[in-house]
Amino acid sequence: MSAVALASQAHATPFIVEPPLRALAHIPGEDGWPVLGATLQLLADPKGHVEKCAAQFGPVYRTRAFGGRSVSLLGPEANEFVLFDHAKCFSSTHGWGGILERLFPRGLMLLDFDEHRLHRKALSVAFKTGPMQSYLVNLNRGIDAGVARWRAGPADMLFYPAIKQLTLDLAAVSFLGEDIGPDVERLKRAFIDMVAAAVAVIRKPLPGTQMARGVAGRAFVVDYFGRQIEARRAGDGQDIFSHLCKATTDSGISLTRQEIVDHMSFLMMAAHDTLTSSLTSFVYHLCANRDWQERLRGEIDALGLARGEPLPYEKLDQMPLTEMAFKESLRLIPPVPSIPRCAVRDTEFQGFRLPAGVRVSVNPLYTHHMPDVWPEPQKFDPLRFTEEASRARHKFAYVPYGGGAHMCLGLHFAYMQAKCFAYNLLSSCEISIPQGYRPDWKLWPIPQPRDGLRIRLTPRS
Ligand code: HEM
Repeated sequence: MSAVALASQAHATPFIVEPPLRALAHIPGEDGWPVLGATLQLLADPKGHVEKCAAQFGPVYRTRAFGGRSVSLLGPEANEFVLFDHAKCFSSTHGWGGILERLFPRGLMLLDFDEHRLHRKALSVAFKTGPMQSYLVNLNRGIDAGVARWRAGPADMLFYPAIKQLTLDLAAVSFLGEDIGPDVERLKRAFIDMVAAAVAVIRKPLPGTQMARGVAGRAFVVDYFGRQIEARRAGDGQDIFSHLCKATTDSGISLTRQEIVDHMSFLMMAAHDTLTSSLTSFVYHLCANRDWQERLRGEIDALGLARGEPLPYEKLDQMPLTEMAFKESLRLIPPVPSIPRCAVRDTEFQGFRLPAGVRVSVNPLYTHHMPDVWPEPQKFDPLRFTEEASRARHKFAYVPYGGGAHMCLGLHFAYMQAKCFAYNLLSSCEISIPQGYRPDWKLWPIPQPRDGLRIRLTPRS
């Protein structure tokens, strides 16, 4: 057994028992409708529901939805308290477990405390500068080819399904390498099924259900990754999978086969829908704010690269406006609108006692629209992210990637992909939407435009 696996056993999160209602009675809030609680309201309008509860009960309130009771903690201080988790009170394993455990068990975000720290350190080799440079080579190639296909198609296109497909194709190459072989289409299908199953309403894998397809997808993925580990260990691949196969702990011991498989599955899931969602809102906001689209194009043209030349890694730092515009899109529509945890011991926030076993959640979507933190919160204004403006804000006012020990491990990858995407798209096309068009966003579980986001692509001469 590897050192990582041994540590896993030594630091497993304790068994959790949900506290009874009377232990939460001092927290304002309500149980909502019988059986369903506030599930339907949350599904229909997650932002509106949280804002209504905040106005009625204050920034700490109790609610019941999706079959359980939980306490919402709102605002930057709450984000810091829960995510930074100075006193190690909050389990991510038990927070995310109900949603992700069956299909993405023991992914990094589903580990806690010392065990999590050990694994995170081992995985971080895949996100160092050297590997990132080689991922960018593949991103450039894939995005360039994808944009060329779009340009060759009809001028009006549905952006969301197109970017979802492209992001999956890109992930296949950066995560698995170029020589993936004939199974790649099946692998992509398996992932789509697993991700869809993670949020399916029917949680048992009954025949014909999404959960059954997700479970079958996982079986395929586990087998597919498992079969390749030895070859990847021996090879010199520069993809994320190969890096994980060779990753070791501080004491030089490799991850086990099962650990590699679990981390790979989780990583692909963590990257895919978040990037699809964020690139969609990025493109929408650049269509709706043509002045900003032009500013970004100016920044891209000023990089001094020939048309069609790949974006070099060294140029990423010369795209601050692009980064600010992407950040502003993530503020307005954070891909992870709410982040769950579960208290593993009694604690207290702003005078409210939170007993061990209680589920809590913090809410990036709510925080990112607080008018006292973000004046004119609905306005797209990337200048909120100048260094000076960012320094003046609470550190946990902007949390699209979470914060603390579980802060997104792939955030630099996300910025890199967003910049590479903006570079390839805006240097070759103008993008637009009809005047006044505002897509209806389905915000839960991961934001997406209900109509697929219809945009027009006009090739630049
Ligand atoms: C814009 C894109 C992305 C957003 C908004 C995003 C958001 C997040 C958030 C909010 C968390 C923390 C959840 C929590 O604390 O419970 C997280 C964790 C994570 N993300 Fe991302 N993510 C993005 C892209 C990516 C990409 C591209 C990768 C991989 C290449 C990735 C890998 C991870 C991993 C491994 C974790 C778990 C970290 C840990 O538990 O230590 N993410 N992400």
